[in-house]
Amino acid sequence: MVVAHPLKSRLLGLILTTALVACSPNSIADDGVWPKVRSPIAQDAEIEAKIDSLLAQMSVEQKVGQMIQAEIKSISPDDAAEYHIGSILNGGGSWPTDKADGPLGAWLSMANLFYGASMDTGDDRLAIPILWGTDAVHGHNNVVGATIFPHNIGLGAANNPDLMRDIGTVTAREVAVTGIDWTFAPTVAVARDARWGRTYESYSEKPNIVANLSKEFVVGLQGHPALDNFLSEQKIIATAKHFIGDGGTANGKDQGETTLTEQELFDIHGQGYVTTLGVGAQTVMASFNSWNGEKLHGSKYMLTDVLKGQMGFDGLVVGDWNGHAQIEGCTNASCPQAINAGVDLIMVPEDWKAFSQNTISQVKAGDIPMSRVDDAVRRILRVKYRAGMFDSGKPSEHALASRAKLLGHADHRAIARQAVSESLVLLKNDGVLPINPNSRILVAGSGADNPALQSGGWTVTWQGRHIETRALNPRKYYKGHTTIADGIRDAAASAGGETLAKPDPDTRPDVAIIVFGETPYAEFEGDLANLDFDLLDNEDFKLMQSLKSDGVPVVAVFLTGRPRGVDAAIDLADAFVTAWLPGSEGAGVADVLIAAPDGSPRQNFKGKLPFSWPANGVSSTDNEDVKYKVGYGLTY
Ligand code: GLC
Repeated sequence: MVVAHPLKSRLLGLILTTALVACSPNSIADDGVWPKVRSPIAQDAEIEAKIDSLLAQMSVEQKVGQMIQAEIKSISPDDAAEYHIGSILNGGGSWPTDKADGPLGAWLSMANLFYGASMDTGDDRLAIPILWGTDAVHGHNNVVGATIFPHNIGLGAANNPDLMRDIGTVTAREVAVTGIDWTFAPTVAVARDARWGRTYESYSEKPNIVANLSKEFVVGLQGHPALDNFLSEQKIIATAKHFIGDGGTANGKDQGETTLTEQELFDIHGQGYVTTLGVGAQTVMASFNSWNGEKLHGSKYMLTDVLKGQMGFDGLVVGDWNGHAQIEGCTNASCPQAINAGVDLIMVPEDWKAFSQNTISQVKAGDIPMSRVDDAVRRILRVKYRAGMFDSGKPSEHALASRAKLLGHADHRAIARQAVSESLVLLKNDGVLPINPNSRILVAGSGADNPALQSGGWTVTWQGRHIETRALNPRKYYKGHTTIADGIRDAAASAGGETLAKPDPDTRPDVAIIVFGETPYAEFEGDLANLDFDLLDNEDFKLMQSLKSDGVPVVAVFLTGRPRGVDAAIDLADAFVTAWLPGSEGAGVADVLIAAPDGSPRQNFKGKLPFSWPANGVSSTDNEDVKYKVGYGLTY
């Protein structure tokens, strides 16, 4: 991938910063690397006074409890009350019951129980509402029936800021239906080596694309004061993650080492923070990776001096899943270093009780200054007040609570379908596309009728498959989804055409659409040693070969979370379309591939490569001689 030229991207950074910083030229004149970012959410004297008053009443136990986020499978509402726990999360593939497709109301019921416990002032406890965070990273993806958007790599290909705002708005609505207030999104990573298992969570290798799209997504999720809907009832709290340099690790190794100068770190990996904090993102998640040998969870310079001091961030910093334990000398259950570095809310899914007890001792022993604890609690309370949580009543009383019809609503799916169509990138077309619908079309391949391959990881389960057996999720987890084959079948049928789901020696198709690609993965489970894609043993590729030998034109559709070395398939096929990980609205693929009855395109290709594409045999895309450069994409 092309490394951003420091000077050029510095200019970009300055342009972005200029747009965001109150016209105080001297603040960008200083030769520091990190700009002051002025959030549109000014500090509110009334809120600060309320925080002062609450802080003054809080014991050390209550303050430390506020700084802890536990996983819903390892804590009960009563535990949360007893230990004054400030936040809960459901990890990827964690649901309020032991069934993914349990009743939708179970989410709201659990939210009510935890809220009620946190507001119960028995045993002279203080009423401080508990904050539930979830990974709604491409729709409300842990919930069966939710609209599932293309993963970020596809949205980067579409590169449509207005659409991003709509996606944020819809995501917030569907999350609000379940009584949850906070999503750990957007990922503003700038993936620089596609061997990284989280490449598909990155919009692009280009900092400016990440900056622009994540900004609009945050406005959709949270609202904005200028729109008079900031954290209103239909909005939820956003998270800019993972701070910082998650996409820049050596060899794309997840949670690995990012070695860059400070200027490069800002130029390449800092732009999404400038823009998302500039529109008021209220939380930042610390990253697992290291920068120049220091784990970010333990970096006081980055978390406190840069993010909070220099950039002026006044929301809360949440740790990643036991990320604190990766600091030298820390464990899941104890890590004063992370708190002193600037993590305000520790994500300690299981060991929250021991962490609480240890941290209380560390505060009382002076290992953690009370001023640091007060700052962390102030930030947590500030976000809760800004989100209106103290006044909004229990989750089931919120405006969108239990409005189940909103989940997967046709209007939401229409937006997702537009995103699918706009995300498609045409790498090759010998003229076979668009396809006349009044034809006999073979639609086959492992991804043709496969919602699991369409949605990838972070979909109902963490890995997009069963955590132990690694089998693909059952089809019932993809309720309401349309597959790529569904869309093609409908388009053909409406024009008198016909489709075949598998080759038939007696029925020769006019054209074949073969959908193939990666099977689902998430995080480090998706890391690769190189980007080669084994085609020789691939049944889909063999089918393409046999069709071509029978003289049938072949359109290859590739489902993938990143560029891969698939030269032989690109060379063999008459047309090659990258569909990334389109999510629930697979029918959107047909909107572009299948023509109108008169043969004219119904929708043109719009997608452009957000990542450079390697030739076969290249270990990563972090090199100059790529097969296709960023921005490549053909149209009709
Ligand atoms: C994961 C991911 C992070 C996610 C968190 C909670 O490990 O790194 O992106 O938000 O844990 O699920």
